[in-house]
Amino acid sequence: MLRSKDLIGLKDLSTNEIELILSTAKDMKNVLKSGKKTNDLTDKSVATLFYENSTRTRVSFELAAKNLGASVSSITIATSSVAKGESLIDTGRTLDALFTNVVVIRHNVSGAPYLLAKNVKASVINGGDGNNEHPTQGLLDIFTMRETFGKLDGLKVALIGDVKHSRVARSNIFGLTKLNVKVSIAAPETLLPADIGKIVRVHNNIHDAVQDADVIMGLRIQKERQKRGHFPSMREYVKFYSITEDLIKKAKKTCIIMHPGPINRGIEIMSEVADSKQSLILNQVTNGLAVRMAILKLIVK
Ligand code: CP
Repeated sequence: MLRSKDLIGLKDLSTNEIELILSTAKDMKNVLKSGKKTNDLTDKSVATLFYENSTRTRVSFELAAKNLGASVSSITIATSSVAKGESLIDTGRTLDALFTNVVVIRHNVSGAPYLLAKNVKASVINGGDGNNEHPTQGLLDIFTMRETFGKLDGLKVALIGDVKHSRVARSNIFGLTKLNVKVSIAAPETLLPADIGKIVRVHNNIHDAVQDADVIMGLRIQKERQKRGHFPSMREYVKFYSITEDLIKKAKKTCIIMHPGPINRGIEIMSEVADSKQSLILNQVTNGLAVRMAILKLIVK
């Protein structure tokens, strides 16, 4: 059982709750492999309410809900009453009045899913809020690591790039550290959150971060969240922080490459690496479906 009606962040989940989601996701992956669907959410209703663009999160939540037998409403901001000025809380209460059981929300403002959850009866799942958290991405990343290595305890994960603006990095750091995974990060000083060195090992040099890593995870340069330039030029960023074939040749032979997507090819990661045998980027997408099925099944009471 999950303690809350909502999933807002990995910061709030206990280790037992994370373990429950991961084991349920394994069952859901077997359901997907069998080509069957379940009736866990028959007569339930799931709405996706995305104030920011998405491909993976939105599509996989909608498919996950359908695979469990739920009905799905997809609310597009540009064609909904949000465009007429309806508030987030009024939109949420409207969905409550339509007997919606789960609202999956993505919002550019950190904390928006929390505000919605406090004001609606439906379960609220955070599909990414501002710079804060992207808990289902963190969970699918952790699921992918455990599926690959058969364990999490003692793994070394290197997060490379724009940690400061990355809700994916925050969720991964909260989840992985709860599961005894050693996390190190490499980024320019200007893309590091304050005090991050108290939680994870920080390297300014990418080579130091990846040398003994089991997982090398690139993070997207989030141009839309950078109000001012955080590095002198893109060329300089690529020179010092891009994940290249040369870098991977110097890393452990058994390491895997991950990225939450979408990728800025040729910026934070080179195509030869993103498309290599060591890359699990598309496995992450498939696992996102299993993990989101698990979360929906566990959250609907
Ligand atoms: N990783 C991720 O959240 O991708 P989308 O923006 O496509 O949902």
